[in-house]
Amino acid sequence: KIDHKSAEFCCIIVAAGSGTRYGTATPKQFEWLVGKYLFQHSLDIALAHEQCQACILVIRQADKSFVSEILDGYPSQLKSKIRIAIGGAERSESVCNGLREADKGNADFVLIHDAARPGLSFEVIDRLLAGLSDHEGCAPALPIRDAVKRVSATKISSVDREGLYRIQTPQAFRLSAALSMHSGNQSDAVDDFELAQANGFHLKLVEGSENLMKLTTPGDKAILETHLSGPQTSITRLGQGYDVHAFEPGSAVQLCGVEIPHDKKLKGHSDADVGWHAITDALLGAIADGDIGDHFPPSDPQWKGAASSVFLKFASDRIEKKGGKISNVDVTIVCEAPKVKPHRDSMRQATAELLGISVDQVSIKATTTEGLGFEGRREGISAQAIASVILPDKFTYSDA
Ligand code: CTP
Ligand code: MG
Repeated sequence: KIDHKSAEFCCIIVAAGSGTRYGTATPKQFEWLVGKYLFQHSLDIALAHEQCQACILVIRQADKSFVSEILDGYPSQLKSKIRIAIGGAERSESVCNGLREADKGNADFVLIHDAARPGLSFEVIDRLLAGLSDHEGCAPALPIRDAVKRVSATKISSVDREGLYRIQTPQAFRLSAALSMHSGNQSDAVDDFELAQANGFHLKLVEGSENLMKLTTPGDKAILETHLSGPQTSITRLGQGYDVHAFEPGSAVQLCGVEIPHDKKLKGHSDADVGWHAITDALLGAIADGDIGDHFPPSDPQWKGAASSVFLKFASDRIEKKGGKISNVDVTIVCEAPKVKPHRDSMRQATAELLGISVDQVSIKATTTEGLGFEGRREGISAQAIASVILPDKFTYSDA
């Protein structure tokens, strides 16, 4: 009997399939789902489990540089636990290659999991580890609740569902057992559990989870999205932004998407919309995604004269890509003139429209500095913004 509370496991995540039934050009394991790539969901959960010694990600050679780039965004203490193996034409081959890599470590247990099942949880992992304390292998399973029929070209007959179970992954084994069962000839077993059975191992089923559903066809995506994003799984993030533009001779200034007649204009190589620039930085700040200058370097001629709407839209797209939502933005424009108040509603409208949020989520305020400082001397305008963003709270280590 092995003490499952102190045992360490290695998790093999197979992600080397081609996703034929899913049908997208990029295989389904790289589908974007609730703030990260599909394969990252289970990887991040396994890595976060305190008994996890290593994770082996089995991928196709062609996907190696793409995956490595994503993993480069992980904190080093997690990244050091991840190893990559190259998959084969069949799932069983991919598993074998993963096991060969697992054999280089000394974990007690190995969990073999489909990347296509993003809903892994600590609860399922713990049930599997407990099962392995007195069995050589175990797998999560759920009873079938619907009536079951066998359908052929000529007839439909009932099958007694008593004792019928759906088997999921991770399928978990003592490492020694997994290595010995995969060392023989390739069999045509449907899964590792069947292979273990053929090898005469002592096996057990533990309670599975509906969240372990596999992404197989396009219709599965929406179901998995609701499984993966519960109400308790979001966190609020704040970001702050600040920008200044100097005046030069002209006839209007652009503030938060609205042109306001004035006896000067703002200097800058785009439309110099100081308000939108501050909001853009606040939004990027909320997701810790650098600043406007990182994404649109002023030295790059392609951004010369680019509309500020491009920058702001970019920041809102980055948030959406992380599965996030803008909760509100609040801006303060600092200048002696022009008067902002008469234009406030159209500025709120323009900002809300571009960000795809409602006007009551956008606040625009203005103040003078009583003649003090550069704003007071009418040399330019500054803007300060704050933004609040709601992000899925699902181990979002990675950058997309
Ligand atoms: N898998 C793998 N290597 C293979 C085939 C499958 O690593 N040669 C992985 C898949 O990436 C997936 C898991 O095994 O995470 C379960 O397989 P399945 O759902 O069948 O995925 P695909 O084989 O990619 O899809 P399809 O059968 O529709 O082509
Ligand atoms: Mg397949």
